[in-house]
Amino acid sequence: MNYDFDTPAPRAGSGAIKWDLRGSAFGSPEALPFWIADSDYMSPPELVDALCDAVRRCVFGYNDPSPAYRQAVANWVETRHGWKIDTDWILPATGVVSEIANIVRAFTAPGDKILIQTPVYDPFAGVVKAAGRTVVENRLVRGEGLRYTMDLEDLERDLRSGVKLMILCSPHNPVGRVWTPEEVRSVAELCERHGTLLVSDEIHWDLIMPGHRHFTAGLAGTPDNLIVLTAPSKTFNVAGLKCSNAIIPGAAVREKLSAWQREYHIETPNDLGLVACEAAYRNCAAWCDRQNEYLAGNAALVREYLSENLPEVRVAPLEGTYLMWLDTSASGVGSRELCLAMNAAGAILNDGWRYGDDAFVRLNIACPRSQLAKGLEAVVKGYRSAKSAGK
Ligand SMILES: Cc1ncc(COP(=O)(O)O)c(C=O)c1O
Repeated sequence: MNYDFDTPAPRAGSGAIKWDLRGSAFGSPEALPFWIADSDYMSPPELVDALCDAVRRCVFGYNDPSPAYRQAVANWVETRHGWKIDTDWILPATGVVSEIANIVRAFTAPGDKILIQTPVYDPFAGVVKAAGRTVVENRLVRGEGLRYTMDLEDLERDLRSGVKLMILCSPHNPVGRVWTPEEVRSVAELCERHGTLLVSDEIHWDLIMPGHRHFTAGLAGTPDNLIVLTAPSKTFNVAGLKCSNAIIPGAAVREKLSAWQREYHIETPNDLGLVACEAAYRNCAAWCDRQNEYLAGNAALVREYLSENLPEVRVAPLEGTYLMWLDTSASGVGSRELCLAMNAAGAILNDGWRYGDDAFVRLNIACPRSQLAKGLEAVVKGYRSAKSAGK
């Protein structure tokens, strides 16, 4: 089947944060948006059909994740990620960040240390601080060609100092790494050695560029010490349907989180979220593969366009996710100021400052290629104007 990623989804005016907050959040209501992490082409037709069938049943009462739902998740985890799980290890939830917030509260106490690997998706630190826990930063190492690696010695030192929980971002937003089996095993082993609960956020685990392979922490961690968080939301563009899955092999960890969710009446996903997730994992593997090829084409466009038109901006290699990490340090201008100039020129990106590196900006490439091409012109224009104004 031919899938269409070239036709823009009609998002402006639909309530989409990415489009409809361009004016209020950035003062640029006409600029093209390349910020918040969702996609600007349509979800897989097989998934949309399943949702339409569910809507036509015309009843939306209380629902529980069905055995068929659980089996679809387990089959996906095994066929795509090589991890054989029991269906009762799956704890469905309404989102990954809210689940991290629950986990932080359920497994740690105020003041406890929680480790993140920066620069990283900013809600990690936000959730930790909001819960009154202490953020410990294990900074990633920027290597040759902007490929990042982990500083495992520093990680071990930190963990030894009594870190209770580590949030691994795998694949990593925003640096674009797909961690190797060796890297994931090292993290899991260090967490086990130091009694640190490993929470592996693998929301981007199906967004993998050709030549790379995701290695889930599920294949490396010890059951008593591990929570893997996944969702169909990024891959199939269903973030608004609020459905994620925690996969927890250890009975004690699972029971502790379940008990917390019961105590605070934390709901299972909404009915249509469950329908979408089951349909995605049952019927949309081919769409997922085509999307990865399309994204690889978009990433190539970014590299080619910038190397021709703005070679001083270097691009981190994209191994996974649809978020590209651009080194704008040669501008001499901080990322917030640079983003303002790009907004004015017609493209909204995320400043790197929020992730912990002011010398970078983040570009979301999950959109039709024509939109990306227009956006790149605005990126170059905004960069040049910020740089000359900064002189
Ligand atoms: C690493 C990571 N985790 C979680 C989320 C958000 O997940 P959710 O919408 O399920 O809370 C994002 C969204 O960009 C993300 O990049």
